[in-house]
Amino acid sequence: MDTSHRTWAEPWKIKMVEPIRMTSRGERETAITEAGYNTFLLKADDVYIDLLTDSGTSAMSDRQWSALMLGDESYAGSKSFYKLVDAVHEVYGYEELIPTHQGRGAEHILSQILISDGDVVPGNMYFTTTRYHQERAGGRFVDVIIDEAHDPHSLHPFKGNIDMAKLRSVVDEYGAERVPYVSFETNVNMAGGQPVSMANLREVYEYCQPLGVLVMLDATRAAENAYFIQQREYGYQDRPISQILREMTSFSDGATVSSKKDNLVNIGGFLAVRDPKLARQARAMLVAFEGLHTYGGMSGRDMEALAVGIREMVDTDDHIRCRVGQVEYLGDALIKAGVPVIRPIGGHGVFLDAATILEHLPQDRFPAQALTAAIYVDSGVRGMERGIVSAGRDPETGENRHPGLELVRLTIPRRVYTQSHMDVTAESVIRVHERRESIGGLKFAYEPDTLRFFQARFEPVA
Ligand code: F0G
Repeated sequence: MDTSHRTWAEPWKIKMVEPIRMTSRGERETAITEAGYNTFLLKADDVYIDLLTDSGTSAMSDRQWSALMLGDESYAGSKSFYKLVDAVHEVYGYEELIPTHQGRGAEHILSQILISDGDVVPGNMYFTTTRYHQERAGGRFVDVIIDEAHDPHSLHPFKGNIDMAKLRSVVDEYGAERVPYVSFETNVNMAGGQPVSMANLREVYEYCQPLGVLVMLDATRAAENAYFIQQREYGYQDRPISQILREMTSFSDGATVSSKKDNLVNIGGFLAVRDPKLARQARAMLVAFEGLHTYGGMSGRDMEALAVGIREMVDTDDHIRCRVGQVEYLGDALIKAGVPVIRPIGGHGVFLDAATILEHLPQDRFPAQALTAAIYVDSGVRGMERGIVSAGRDPETGENRHPGLELVRLTIPRRVYTQSHMDVTAESVIRVHERRESIGGLKFAYEPDTLRFFQARFEPVA
């Protein structure tokens, strides 16, 4: 199709709408106080534009909704399972499918079957649930992402890349037998939705293979990563996203996927591998923790909608182009207004550099948490903290980890909001940025032991 005459305009039209509520500033002040200044604890009804996450918040297509009716709810051997196996095989290239209720279910199983006490798992920046499962299985996560990923000002086109020297030094120090796999995330979430290059995927795989170290992708946002490869890496400009994605996964032994993102469904996920022996071990865990091997954690209808979603994700490049285009539209509006954001703009959201915006607050006063709350109070736009609160405590020392990035994430759900919603969001962030000096810090009122950001409560520091 000739797309030269338009920008990122949507390749769909709206068939059904869901009303959302506009609230007063007073109502929002009460709501955020009751929520302990944690946007995870707000009621959705008190939110106007919900940019908490792109996870499970996508709008399904008419084809996906009609696929729900075809769900085969047989306990064993459901037709819907085999459609999902075909879709994953065709789009990602993996033969063995282990369906789970969502991404962390797949991370749990993978960690339990591959990691032994004392093992080391190198990866390109942590993700909260991924690292939690690796540690729970007795492993230690070691960050081997390139330094540029921690620098909000670096314009490196592939800030998700693994630093080969860092990876080699981990393997040299502990020995390949203590490194079960490399945890390789595509479009790295915590770095700001930053991609990895095909060259880096290839180099990591070629290094690991002879050592017997597996490469397991977190392919949750791999299609968005494929789009950036098409836009930025030499030789891929004329290749469709579907082909680029298949080439990316060819440099791996398997993947965990949260289907709540790229895959355009509201719930679901999977582990996919090539090795039938590994798949057998995974299925033994699956039947204990998720469900029988032909549904895992999903109903038949969920598997139907997922099979359609996986194909829609790569059917035409227009979908991803529009999806990332909308994110860039919001990011560009903020850059133009001088608001410090992570650049380049990532695939699934715009990440505000809270450390710079609230430079009067030390990291232990939770600047990103405070900025997230201030934006909510201003306009009802709900974002999420991705900084010191999300990073949690070191399990060995009990001390707070101090991540290099202290961010507010404004995550854009797929096919849900319009350009005017992005304008409202930009106006609010710019307004809050202008009066940033009036924003005070926070302290814990309640700190959970694990994955604390989800349920922690805070109060203002006088
Ligand atoms: N891996 C990545 C890169 C993720 O972003 C997520 C979830 C998961 C794994 C876990 O998947 O939620 O299906 O269990 N990210 C969500 C987010 C929660 O808001 O970024 P899940």
